[in-house]
Amino acid sequence: MARSIQLLQACLAYIVLLSLSMVRAGRQRYAVLHAGDEPMLQGTWSSGSGKVTTGSGFFNPRSRSFIAPTVPGQAYSFTQDGFWEFAKYRVTPNPRKPECIQSQLIWQHGNYVLHANGTLQLWPITREGAQLLTSSCPGGSPPEEMYDVPEEYTMVDTWIDLHHGVSSAALRLTDAWGNRSPSLYKIYDPPMMLPTDPLYLEYIGIP
Ligand SMILES: *[C@@H]1O[C@H](CO)[C@@H](O)[C@H](O)[C@H]1NC(C)=O
Repeated sequence: MARSIQLLQACLAYIVLLSLSMVRAGRQRYAVLHAGDEPMLQGTWSSGSGKVTTGSGFFNPRSRSFIAPTVPGQAYSFTQDGFWEFAKYRVTPNPRKPECIQSQLIWQHGNYVLHANGTLQLWPITREGAQLLTSSCPGGSPPEEMYDVPEEYTMVDTWIDLHHGVSSAALRLTDAWGNRSPSLYKIYDPPMMLPTDPLYLEYIGIP
């Protein structure tokens, strides 16, 4: 009896060890990024199933129109020389009329700085970004609006994770209040982006 309990304990200890090493295997190469780590930031990083991406498949700067992805999500792209782009598609029920589904599409781009203290500052190019809000119910959806909202994160961390069974680089952005982005998985490197210089002047001619 005592022997079988010992055997059971040994088995349990083995299982615990095994699961610990699996956790470690799933989260290798963990790193918190600082100035100088821009090459690790480079790429297009997308949440969930990776259906939302930056670039011309999401936003058309000439017509200032969106191509809505099939599922909601968000994506950030970074170049190692300091440019970024953001795409987001969000779908929410209207709290006052739950039968009415609201959707929000956001696109913006600009320059970023990754500081020595790990803070990541994202500066949009003024008057270039766009936001489109629509509702599934009639009632005059507002037209496309300008959108340029700076973002700041106090920590950017990255690791290798199993994502849909594939070993992928993951990235997470945490702000000063501790709010974390969903895990964003690298789907393109080099990143899939629209031209990084001001597009609005070039295409539309508005100063
Ligand atoms: C990190 O450094 C930048 C640039 O000096 C500064 O703007 C930012 O406030 C600092 N962040 C923290 C959390 O100290």
